[in-house]
Amino acid sequence: MTASQPKLFVKSYGCQMNVYDAERMADALAPEGYVAAASAEDADVIVLNTCHIREKAAEKVYSELGRIRKMKAETGRSPIVAVAGCVAQAEGAEILKRSAVVDLVVGPQSYQRLPGLLREARAGARPVDTDFAVEDKFERLSPPTPKAIASRGVTAFVTVQEGCDKFCTFCVVPYTRGAESSRPVSQIVAETERLVAAGVREVTLLGQNVDAYHGEGPDGRDWSLARLLYELAEIPGLARLRYTTSHPRDMGDDLIAAHRDCPKLMPYLHLPVQSGSDRMLAAMNRRHTAADYLRLIARVRAAQPDLALSGDFIVGFPGETDADFEATMSIAREAAYASAFTFKYSPRPGTPAADRGGQVAEEVKTERLHRLQALIADQQAAFARALVGRRIEVLLDRAGRHAGQIAGRSPYLQPVQLVAPGARIGDLIEADVVDVGPNSLFAEPAGGARETRSMLAEAAV
Ligand code: SAH
Ligand code: SF4
Ligand code: F3S
Repeated sequence: MTASQPKLFVKSYGCQMNVYDAERMADALAPEGYVAAASAEDADVIVLNTCHIREKAAEKVYSELGRIRKMKAETGRSPIVAVAGCVAQAEGAEILKRSAVVDLVVGPQSYQRLPGLLREARAGARPVDTDFAVEDKFERLSPPTPKAIASRGVTAFVTVQEGCDKFCTFCVVPYTRGAESSRPVSQIVAETERLVAAGVREVTLLGQNVDAYHGEGPDGRDWSLARLLYELAEIPGLARLRYTTSHPRDMGDDLIAAHRDCPKLMPYLHLPVQSGSDRMLAAMNRRHTAADYLRLIARVRAAQPDLALSGDFIVGFPGETDADFEATMSIAREAAYASAFTFKYSPRPGTPAADRGGQVAEEVKTERLHRLQALIADQQAAFARALVGRRIEVLLDRAGRHAGQIAGRSPYLQPVQLVAPGARIGDLIEADVVDVGPNSLFAEPAGGARETRSMLAEAAV
């Protein structure tokens, strides 16, 4: 290492917003001369960008810190170790007490101050910064360089809304990310233009409740997510837009209409329902019923019949009976998901549900999870199979495993493998779906590529 080129290694856990934050941390440190390290072993600064959503996720950081301690002892190296993200926010100085290897703790709303915090850490202090900054984090963060953008590929995340005021009774996010706030439209447009100028073709707008977006528009008024999407769709070169995660209470009529009227908006919706039981939904403080959810997705499907619906479910919430769980199975059947995430309820310190009676036994949670997962897996396979014989647009986003092979994503976010000689990463191509694998579609470029099938069969995933 040279003094002018310290090496940074950021390891992210948790949601897409953490992935985005990790990139922005690297951007914040790039003007200080930091370059990416190939591994933690090779780094001068290690940042663990943590997640607090479930116990397992939160505990990962401590096993990772154990590994780092061992690595330091074995190699004699002494990188600065920072804990960032939602565990940092939730546990703050406790982390320093629990792990001597940690040099600094920084929350998701304060990482714009990383350069200064690292200087303090290097001088021997063990700073903890978990302020919800009054300054605009995004204004202060250095933008990514074109080279950094290009190294991250042709798809990118952009946080547009952060924090949550919903206080679902199981969830730590309102405490770790703070109150809901939206970035101004001009900031998001400038960031997206910069990404597109450096080769990005698809942008996913992120927010904990992204459909509650209400950022200040250039006219001084609050703009909705739909209005923001139309504005971004005007950027030449940007091919695709997505957004995640939505809350059923915040899907506005104009957002639903955008699924019909905005061709760049992909026919994909991640809309968590958590449970199909109204009793559980009330106990979770979701503030909608199962019927509300089904009506809502019917409206979205009326606007965009070709929709891939995704969701989140929690099984074993306190008080969940067999009948409540059957209601979850039944809403999942009725909603017909293209994919979904399923979780066992994990009691989180400081959340209202954690101390409630009626905690569900682990084996019951496991059994329910398996049943729900089997249903979702069937739905996912059925959704994929129904695409065989159809022509879809594929955004090529990475090299395939074999010569001439290239991989991309369908409009429905499925990985697609194809043989497309001459095609380049970043191209949007028309392709016919010919087969499905466990995790991918196989497709042939429309009107092209002989021998595609045999080559694909060879490379079967
Ligand atoms: N803001 C999003 C999701 C945030 S967390 C929303 O409102 O839907 C992502 C998912 O993790 C949640 O949708 C939920 O399914 C799950 N989750 C959150 N807290 C959990 C907990 N304590 N135990 C198990 N799963 C949880
Ligand atoms: Fe958590 Fe509920 Fe907020 Fe989603 S809406 S982040 S689940 S509190
Ligand atoms: Fe985890 Fe924080 Fe995201 S708790 S899911 S990293 S908002």
